[in-house]
Amino acid sequence: MPVNVNEKEKVFLLNTPKTTYAIGVVDDGFLAHIYYGKRLNTSDIRYLLKEEDPPYIPEKNKREENAFLDQLPMEYPETGMGDYRESAFCVRNMEGFRASELKYDRYEILKGKPGLEGLPATWGSDEECTTLNIFCVDTLLDLEVCLRYTVFEQLDAVTRSVIVKNNGHQSVYLEKVFSACLDMEDRDFEMIGLFGSWARERHLQRRPLGYGRQNISSFKGESSHQEHPFAALVTSDTTQEAGEVYAMNFVYSGNFMAQAEKSQFDSVRLTMGIHPEGFTWKLDPGKYFTAPEVVMVYSSEGLGKMTRTFHDLYRDHLIRSPYLHRERPILINNWEATYFDFDEKKLIDIAREASQLGIEMLVMDDGWFGHRSSDDSSLGDWQVNEEKLKGGLHHLVEEVKKTGMKFGIWFEPEMISPDSDLFKKHPDWAIQIPGRHITQSRAQYVLDLSRQEVVDAVYKMMENVLKSADISYVKWDMNRQLTTMGSVCLPPDRQGELFHRYMLGVYQMQERLVREFPDLLLENCSGGGARFDPGMLYYSPQIWCSDDTDAIERLKIQEGTALVYPLSCMGAHVSVCPNHTVGRNTPFETRGNVAMAGTFGYELDITKLSEEEKEMVRHQTASYHRYHKLIAEGDYYRLCSFSETGEEDCWMTVSKDKCWALVSYVCVLAKPNAKSRFLRLKGLEPDRKYEVRGKIYTGNILMNAGIKIESRQGDFRSEQIEINEPDGEPVCDG
Ligand code: DGJ
Repeated sequence: MPVNVNEKEKVFLLNTPKTTYAIGVVDDGFLAHIYYGKRLNTSDIRYLLKEEDPPYIPEKNKREENAFLDQLPMEYPETGMGDYRESAFCVRNMEGFRASELKYDRYEILKGKPGLEGLPATWGSDEECTTLNIFCVDTLLDLEVCLRYTVFEQLDAVTRSVIVKNNGHQSVYLEKVFSACLDMEDRDFEMIGLFGSWARERHLQRRPLGYGRQNISSFKGESSHQEHPFAALVTSDTTQEAGEVYAMNFVYSGNFMAQAEKSQFDSVRLTMGIHPEGFTWKLDPGKYFTAPEVVMVYSSEGLGKMTRTFHDLYRDHLIRSPYLHRERPILINNWEATYFDFDEKKLIDIAREASQLGIEMLVMDDGWFGHRSSDDSSLGDWQVNEEKLKGGLHHLVEEVKKTGMKFGIWFEPEMISPDSDLFKKHPDWAIQIPGRHITQSRAQYVLDLSRQEVVDAVYKMMENVLKSADISYVKWDMNRQLTTMGSVCLPPDRQGELFHRYMLGVYQMQERLVREFPDLLLENCSGGGARFDPGMLYYSPQIWCSDDTDAIERLKIQEGTALVYPLSCMGAHVSVCPNHTVGRNTPFETRGNVAMAGTFGYELDITKLSEEEKEMVRHQTASYHRYHKLIAEGDYYRLCSFSETGEEDCWMTVSKDKCWALVSYVCVLAKPNAKSRFLRLKGLEPDRKYEVRGKIYTGNILMNAGIKIESRQGDFRSEQIEINEPDGEPVCDG
């Protein structure tokens, strides 16, 4: 049973194939967390609640109520009653008092998984998922909080969200509504997060968990380059194959907080939700507030198993695009080729040359609209600049199509340039605090997407462009953080809603786009990878990983990204050398091998490549067609890591039927006088025979002894090694 309720003991168990998550109701009605870990075979676990433990039991010792709350593993802790660890919920009433006492009321079990209104969320059929709603109430405020859990029956993942309903006669102010809390005893945990900067996104960081609070967050209005809405607690012995992992990932693209806190009693609380800074939501009588979803994954088989669970979950239950399981067109984007300096002739030249080499789509990046010839104007004026693109968009697209290529286009719909017709007409449409100057970033302001008329007007402009020509792809960019948060339309006591209302506006626009243009391939982007998160994946099957296209920098970025997200969604392109971001020279082959670990494409002036390089493009596009399905749909294993060793990097993907695999190896730093090295493969069938470099081996020997890495010579050298069944052509059945 995926959801098992022991009515007598007041215990709820959520069972996935290999995990159990358990909640209990303590005697005075609070909801307590009992267990999360390897699957249990009984529901007789109330003793784990340790209600009898000192310090004190509230029912029997009212004098020490708060001491009790401060040590009980709580399922959804709240502010104001004596649990001094980080709370998950904080409400203020109209008189200004901040406290609640959420006590268990009832539960319901639903087949399937209800959606979350206006928000991205994982999905699944009645056969695949079961949902448990636990309702708690605060009788004084007449507030009902529904803790929602969905169990995926074939995957070791549980999703959570929270829906608050005001059943009272007075409004309340929600000051914090986290989506998940997990209390556990410390087991010498370490915390893993993904950190970085522009051009350095999602580098892995692992650090011991000490007493106090360790926090990962963003209140920039986006999930951000710097910190990432993912956190994992791992036991100190955890490797790719062994050890325990408790991971949370937030299906949201705006402000977030993920925090681990170790208390005086050596308990650990992991929380995740919308960042409380800058958040207050006025909840009127009869209204609901829905907190975004958190995905929880537990693995007792190390980080690799956690990764593969996230990949399967996101491929099968989050991304909705018809392109998800389809081969993506190999695209060429003109950004690094031309920046703003292009016209229709240049684009057609690129398309003509690219189509000869196996590339399938031209993407026209920033600079085609308004009077934009640098980054300081025209955002919001989504009309084609016909001085630049003579003959207009329709003509350009038709010319590109004549070369056999599809056409894609760039937008930055959330922004408005001070130098734009839109701003002249609607200066109040920018997010701003009246009387204060509006902070510029990249010479632009942010549109107030909490206003429906703004959403409608910008959407309409995009729609007109998309209907004016045969456009197959949109790159949706977002190039600045949010500041001077104010909406001229919200009343004073609702200004704290702006960050979240902004995200709801973005989601609404993307939802409209994918519904109205169901065959459109949407790629999200945010100044590189500042919004690479599960929220965006709900709308677009691929996201631009980083503006850093250097193959060596990409190793760390792609390792961190692939820790959670499938390779099929990582935007990765081959660019020129010296690389525009770091000035490094790397072999063309390595640039191709690294970009092939994502949605493959090019970002260079193909008309300027040498004949030898063009031949390599032909070879790479053919390899992409051969391996695409294996890379996009297969199981991902990390064999070694440049970020750990500083020397080499290696990953592999194995088809689900274990018949076929591809190993990608990069020797980052050559090593003098090095002996040959054997690399142990993973994920194969031990008793099956495999062919590698023309010789036959068993899976057993390949995984226990390994394959030989021929040479450690040549910085940045790389190779792809195919592992397949001895007979016949491999077929990846996904
Ligand atoms: C940032 C993106 O990451 C780049 O790929 C490019 O589209 C620029 N914006 C254009 O302004």
